[in-house]
Amino acid sequence: MRQILVTSALPYANGSIHLGHLVEYIQTDIWVRAMRALGNKVTYVCADDAHGTAIMLKAEELGLTPEAQIAGVKAEHEADFAKFGIGFDQYHSTHSEENRRLSVQVYEKNAAAGYIARRSIEQLFDPQKSLFLADRFVKGTCPKCDTPDQYGDNCENCGATYSATELKGARSTLSGATPVLKSSEHYFFDLPQFETFLKDWMSSEGVLQDSIKNKLAEWFESGLKQWDISRDAPYFGFLIPGTTDKYFYVWLDAPVGYMASFEALCARRDDLNFDDYWTKAGAQNTELYHFIGKDIVNFHALFWPAMLEGADLRTPSGVFAHGFLTVGGEKMSKSRGTFIKASTFAESLSTEALRYYFASKLTASVEDINLDLPDFMQKVNSDLVGKVVNIASRCAGFLTKQFDSKTHSEVLDPGLLARVVEAGDAIAESYEAREFAKAMRQIMACADMANEFIDAEKPWQLIKDETTRERAHLVCSQGINLFRLLVTYLAPVLPELAAQASEFLQTPVDQFSGRECALLDHQIAEFKPLMTRIEAAQLDAVVEASKDSAPAASIEPAQPVKSAKKKTQTSAAPSEIEFADFAKVELKAAVVLSADFVDGADKLLALTLDVGENKPRSVFSGIREAYPDPQTLVGLTVIAVTNLAPRKMRFGVSEAMILASGQGDQVRVAQVTGVPAGTPVS
Ligand code: 2FM
Ligand code: ZN
Repeated sequence: MRQILVTSALPYANGSIHLGHLVEYIQTDIWVRAMRALGNKVTYVCADDAHGTAIMLKAEELGLTPEAQIAGVKAEHEADFAKFGIGFDQYHSTHSEENRRLSVQVYEKNAAAGYIARRSIEQLFDPQKSLFLADRFVKGTCPKCDTPDQYGDNCENCGATYSATELKGARSTLSGATPVLKSSEHYFFDLPQFETFLKDWMSSEGVLQDSIKNKLAEWFESGLKQWDISRDAPYFGFLIPGTTDKYFYVWLDAPVGYMASFEALCARRDDLNFDDYWTKAGAQNTELYHFIGKDIVNFHALFWPAMLEGADLRTPSGVFAHGFLTVGGEKMSKSRGTFIKASTFAESLSTEALRYYFASKLTASVEDINLDLPDFMQKVNSDLVGKVVNIASRCAGFLTKQFDSKTHSEVLDPGLLARVVEAGDAIAESYEAREFAKAMRQIMACADMANEFIDAEKPWQLIKDETTRERAHLVCSQGINLFRLLVTYLAPVLPELAAQASEFLQTPVDQFSGRECALLDHQIAEFKPLMTRIEAAQLDAVVEASKDSAPAASIEPAQPVKSAKKKTQTSAAPSEIEFADFAKVELKAAVVLSADFVDGADKLLALTLDVGENKPRSVFSGIREAYPDPQTLVGLTVIAVTNLAPRKMRFGVSEAMILASGQGDQVRVAQVTGVPAGTPVS
């Protein structure tokens, strides 16, 4: 039995979990469950990443202490993860005593071994907030192409990289003040000393994906640099021993959080021993895997293994990076309603359905994956409801009603059953190799065989005739046995469905081993529907509800990520825009000609607006809750954005947007009076 410790990256404690995050947690959780189903001892830990400037500022903005802010977020994160069946053995926080002690330990070992340097550096400082400014908090005009409003590290327009001090007209995004240069002493981790070690570590088979190895090779080529691991007060984090005003940079203690979470788990589990998993001696018998996003490879494949080595601890057996999530082929967007929070999704849709859809897309590569909502509905309905669950519902009724809920004592087609049993070996390999899309295809091929068998045998006809009645029993029993195998294979992806199926089948379905023993003369329980079809209205509800929810602060990384340039990140709306940006928005007075409910969309009203053109415009607006009698809107002159790209919705095309204010049923449309339709509003 292999002993494996698995982690997912620690989410920042300043925002909600969204579908982008879930790609990783679902990927990891499926792998953990699959490796357990194959008989291994697997432990899965995670934690909130609670430190850093962004979290300190967020707490300040909310008028909370950082401790209160992170406690609230942690509870929310845990509830969200539970909804999606993410089964951590331990969910901890980096702001914990375990983590403080272990971070200091890792640091002190590195310091004693000569891997920590100190020197003064000059940095931009916000004189108003009395705070050193990370690049993310400085904006100004690009020194290369003169594009205004660029962050302190690179230009989104021309791609130039520079230091924040080179920006023209730099200002602090926190206060608007002009930053000044100030010098202070910083602590550095001496990464260049680990070049040989890192090259050796990454050369082992399976430690890193090939594309990540290539990325690392580029970094080696451009020369490893010392890594700045300290931040000056004020900061929310751990004080560096021997100082009174210098803190560990959040990215130093974040990965140590993996160890801290595991240590906290060991304290309540007799069968787990910390040293078995983290010392070099222990590493002979245990494995350690980190699942991460492709944007944080430098932290996990350079700094982290080097720091562990510097502290004479074990290094990871593998670091597995995945790509980002796009929705409808594009970056998640609040205005399109595709920035979907985990909790919003769970309100309207089956979370296991999402697990299945992600599984059907995930491979071992670093490619981005796309969530296409209509495709999601189609795939879940056709694969899970139409193929898998259908097998049980087609067979269970006859067994229950006609054969006392008991399977037959013989197998009708042992060859077919054996083929599906055998397929389990290839499915297991796909799971272990993180080729989940392949595993799902292999499982669906088995489901097709099972359905073809039932279609060919037609138990609903066999049952009618006394001479073929026994064959109907054999067919349905075989169907149930095939269903059991399919559920066993799908259990890592669909733990909830597997639990219900296990009740129905009156047998565990969580291990691949033993699956070859068919259920013969076996009593089953009453069949209850295991999964229902997804309807288009549920998708619309999620998209509509996502338009209301503010993009969580977590879309903006709490720290700049140097390796992944901003192209791949969603940047939050700028706090300040140029007049030219505002002038791009065409606002006009619009007279409401009609206002009606929309069938199947309980948040929307369909409006027609006269905006002074030849033809009225159709608009769908999410204000239904506030206007139970839409007729009260007719005749009002509202304000419409008339140059927004038309948006195709399920009910038709929305050709403008109207302005409104307020929340829920308190929403009120913005109005102007005394001007004709089409009058520009400015
Ligand atoms: O990028 C992030 O969201 C970080 N909070 C991940 C930390 S992973 C680990 F190193 F702690
Ligand atoms: Zn530029």
